[in-house]
Amino acid sequence: MEIRRVCIVGASGKLGQYMIQHCLDRGYEVVCVCRERSVQKLDKFNGKISIVPGATDDREVIEKAVEGCDGVLTVLVPWGVSSYSAGTAQAVLDFAPSDARLIFSCGWHITRDGKDVYPWPLKAFVKIFGWLARKARFADLNDQVEACDRIFASDKRWTVVRGSDLEGGESQGLPLWSRHVGDPVLKSNLTRRVDFALFMVEALVNDDLIHEAPAIVGCQTPSALAFKAARQI
Ligand SMILES: NC(=O)c1ccc[n+]([C@@H]2O[C@H](COP(=O)([O-])OP(=O)(O)OC[C@H]3O[C@@H](n4cnc5c(N)ncnc54)[C@H](OP(=O)(O)O)[C@@H]3O)[C@@H](O)[C@H]2O)c1
Repeated sequence: MEIRRVCIVGASGKLGQYMIQHCLDRGYEVVCVCRERSVQKLDKFNGKISIVPGATDDREVIEKAVEGCDGVLTVLVPWGVSSYSAGTAQAVLDFAPSDARLIFSCGWHITRDGKDVYPWPLKAFVKIFGWLARKARFADLNDQVEACDRIFASDKRWTVVRGSDLEGGESQGLPLWSRHVGDPVLKSNLTRRVDFALFMVEALVNDDLIHEAPAIVGCQTPSALAFKAARQI
């Protein structure tokens, strides 16, 4: 399916803004959803995008924004303790056109089949940050888990992109991916944000990623380079 019109849900954050630029570079028409108070963060794209302001879990906002879209890129964030992520994912699943490509972002901590093998610092972070965030009612990592479980159960044309630790900097190219955290190619656990966004946008036209939850890693990291050298890619 040809991609012409793309909705970016959660467009005003770092990942969202990189995705806007990648979409504009490809000539896509871009419709953005972001909170009213964050609309000014998108001033640099004035005249090039349209914006539907509102919370990303507002079903009316999402219904309006995804109308006629061939693809929807959704930044899933677990802020607050009111199922913000799950509400966002559900609205996108309910209202996006049935043949649209739906790409969602999350972190490595999400597992689809329970076969991921996590490094201990990540396990410790999820346990400690998860507990503290819930206690302070500032975020709920389980909300992102619930959001992804709903996506995994859907028969829409979804992909859940699981980001490693992130860093800034210029693009190094399309990240490599694997099905399970713990696979050697992912060992470096680092991706540039701009390339996380690149992977999300490229997934719109990669049907091999439909119903996959790729865990990604930067293509110039030591583990990715070792993987490519072993296969002479
Ligand atoms: N940060 C990491 O190290 C990391 C690692 C792996 C994967 N990820 C994944 O990458 C994605 C984005 O991560 P990021 O760190 O780069 O963040 P980001 O792109 O800056 O995006 C943060 C998003 O959260 C929204 N937000 C912030 N506070 C909020 C609140 N209180 N209520 C509702 N929305 C709020 C922002 O909207 P406003 O502009 O309106 O504030 C923005 O859309 C997420 O899916 C995350 O799971 C992140």
